[in-house]
Amino acid sequence: MQSDTATLPAAASRTPLLAVEDLALRFGGSASNVVDGVSFDVAAGETLCIVGESGCGKSVTSLALMGLLPMPPAEIVRGRALFEGRDLLALSRREIGKLRGDRMAMIFQEPMTSLNPVYTVGDQIAEIVRRHRPVGRTEARARALEMLERVKVPAAKRRLDDYPHQMSGGMRQRVMIAMALANDPRLLIADEPTTALDVTIQAQILDLMRELQQETGTALILITHDLGVVAEVADKVAVMYAGRIVETGPVGAIFDDPQHPYTLGLISSVPSLGERGGRLATIPGMVPTVDRMPAGCRFAPRCPFADAACRTEVPPLAEVAAGHAAACRYAPLERHFGDVA
Ligand SMILES: Nc1ncnc2c1ncn2[C@@H]1O[C@H](COP(=O)(O)OP(=O)(O)OP(=O)(O)O)[C@@H](O)[C@H]1O
Ligand code: SF4
Ligand SMILES: [Mg+2]
Repeated sequence: MQSDTATLPAAASRTPLLAVEDLALRFGGSASNVVDGVSFDVAAGETLCIVGESGCGKSVTSLALMGLLPMPPAEIVRGRALFEGRDLLALSRREIGKLRGDRMAMIFQEPMTSLNPVYTVGDQIAEIVRRHRPVGRTEARARALEMLERVKVPAAKRRLDDYPHQMSGGMRQRVMIAMALANDPRLLIADEPTTALDVTIQAQILDLMRELQQETGTALILITHDLGVVAEVADKVAVMYAGRIVETGPVGAIFDDPQHPYTLGLISSVPSLGERGGRLATIPGMVPTVDRMPAGCRFAPRCPFADAACRTEVPPLAEVAAGHAAACRYAPLERHFGDVA
């Protein structure tokens, strides 16, 4: 009781910077929603990691928030995404274009998809700055240099005039981070930012992102397959399965007390958490495709605990402890199945 009262003021003052509520998306002609009722939030200075198998909807969710999902074929079925008091999903292309690269930014797995091969990296960073700030060429170039230094590109002054192809993958990813952070965004979404890099460089880039985030207080949504990374950097975790969030909570709760059978499966088969490079475990069975989504719980075909009720009713994401919620009709699992972990 006492601890509840003690945590109240902190919880009340933690206003989310971004609150996604019941987001549902589909692609024209598909039988079900590819993202179906996703909710999460993230506050300034906080890191939310989104994990889940390939195709579960992590990228389309982030692209929708950034206004980068081509519509059509994509369409928003329902939901809101409140960012600094505005619903990102209701903004015009022009309005969201003003926010993107300024108040919010995104980093992708493959920098070459976002870097323009025909401009120098310095010009590209300067261009982002000038697009959103009333500054001249000299000032924008000075900011580009400052950013390259902040992301620790060696000999930054000289590299300013390099073209992307003259840089290594790790250096290009640093340039991407420099571009993303050039206008001090309050929200940064990084979609598998290190997956394409080798393990040592991955670690350096993640450390850099963490350092910059601590300096700037940016809210970070990090999408990753790597549970070792999650264990190391996340404050909160959202586990996605087939377009839905099946479990969300503080990182400690997710790893120490997973309450959704899918999370349990992911976590129990990682050999040693905390080591980077720990890919998502293989769970027997296949992720359902968007045209063959099971009617009730989408995890039922692979779930060792599934019964008839699971196959007809969609389990809501329900709180099992403060800030920790699972979308399983049998959560908390130990109450129904004993010590499952
Ligand atoms: N433009 C598109 N048209 C039709 N379907 C699409 C389109 N883009 C994505 N999808 C589908 O949406 C689903 C979710 O894709 P998404 O890229 O978000 O997955 P993801 O969780 O990011 O996977 P990964 O871990 O492989 O990056 C997939 O089934 C994918 O095939
Ligand atoms: S609702 Fe049923 S099928 Fe879905 S995760 Fe829980 S036990 Fe498994
Ligand atoms: Mg993706």
